[in-house]
Amino acid sequence: MLGLTLGLLSSAFWPITTGDRRFRVLRKLMELLDYELQKSMISKRRPPLKRGKVSQRLPVPDHIPQPPYVGSQVLPEISSNHQIHDSEGITRMRAACQLAAQVLENAGSLVRPSVTTNEIDKAVHQMIIDAGAYPSPLGYGGFPKSVCTSVNECMCHGIPDSRQLQDGDIINIDVTVYLNGYHGDTSKTFICGNVNNSVNRLVKVTEECMYKGISACEDGALFRKIGKRISDYAEKFGYGVVDRFVGHGIGTIFHSEPLIFHHRNDKAGRMVEGQTFTIEPILTLRPTECITWEDNWTTVTANGCPAAQFEHTILITRTGAEILTNRASVEFQESMVIGLPAIENVMWIGSSCHRAKRAAMGASFTTKLRYSLAVDW
Ligand SMILES: *[C@@H]1O[C@H](CO)[C@@H](O)[C@H](O)[C@H]1NC(C)=O
Ligand SMILES: *[C@@H]1O[C@H](CO)[C@@H](O)[C@H](O)[C@H]1NC(C)=O
Repeated sequence: MLGLTLGLLSSAFWPITTGDRRFRVLRKLMELLDYELQKSMISKRRPPLKRGKVSQRLPVPDHIPQPPYVGSQVLPEISSNHQIHDSEGITRMRAACQLAAQVLENAGSLVRPSVTTNEIDKAVHQMIIDAGAYPSPLGYGGFPKSVCTSVNECMCHGIPDSRQLQDGDIINIDVTVYLNGYHGDTSKTFICGNVNNSVNRLVKVTEECMYKGISACEDGALFRKIGKRISDYAEKFGYGVVDRFVGHGIGTIFHSEPLIFHHRNDKAGRMVEGQTFTIEPILTLRPTECITWEDNWTTVTANGCPAAQFEHTILITRTGAEILTNRASVEFQESMVIGLPAIENVMWIGSSCHRAKRAAMGASFTTKLRYSLAVDW
């Protein structure tokens, strides 16, 4: 923009000859502008993420049931038990996932410059225990906090700390709750203040990739279709899909098989009706290599480029997938799924494609959630 303006100035509006006094003035002016431009670009270059101060672990009231891993510092093994639910299990999954979605939405509304990730953690912790649920990350393999907050080049598993969010940051908030013996898991990348176009696009395309992955799901479909759809789409925009982190089965167990690969792969295995798992792609600029900090959690891109992630927990149905962590009360925006081919096959809760169905389901979900919150625990 600035370059174009200078070009116009010098050629069209200010005809000049070498040695002309006006030329020297202009050159001085251009040098000054160039210097100012460079200075502003340098000052805009974000310093690398650093560890802040991590506060004391927050207490959970005794009456709230805890998942079995709490108290052990050891990272639990990925369970080989595929979690396929009966109707009672599905009801409980819906309730846990709806709570996770509500908490995530509320947490996202706190994102603004100067808020610390520790403050977000405190709010998330309080919302979850107020609902009678346990914040699943707290004490998982020794994880010290109730939510993961991953800022800028942190691709996942960021630990909430004293760092204040800055104008231009992006932050993924990853919420998992344990309610009535079931985990619901969802995450979203939020924008803090003014974020430049290239980062905005990364965030938008990552969300679209998640929906591309979900659109591959139905009873009998190959798991590897998920990775293909996501990679095909990400590559169109020149992004890389991180292969180090995977989605996972979820239910009574936080992390189980099937492992969901978001990158292109040739793994065997098909989806089964009644099965619940997460789809949670992370995208960044290539190469997608990462570095894990000494805390054994915080994982950042090796090249320092920002990374974005979105996650839903889904339920496989006969004809598609139900997004359990969609907010029933939020209007689903079709703009998020530009060019999505198989939308008819997917039971989008909140989709205007299924307005009537959504209205019916939305109502019953809310009732079920209220029921679960009020009666089951
Ligand atoms: C946008 O912001 C990101 C992160 O701060 C930075 O890496 C990138 O160079 C910026 N892009 C432009 C075009 O300014
Ligand atoms: C990280 O993991 C290594 C290897 O398992 C272990 O020795 C170290 O104590 C861990 N660090 C922290 C902060 O837990």
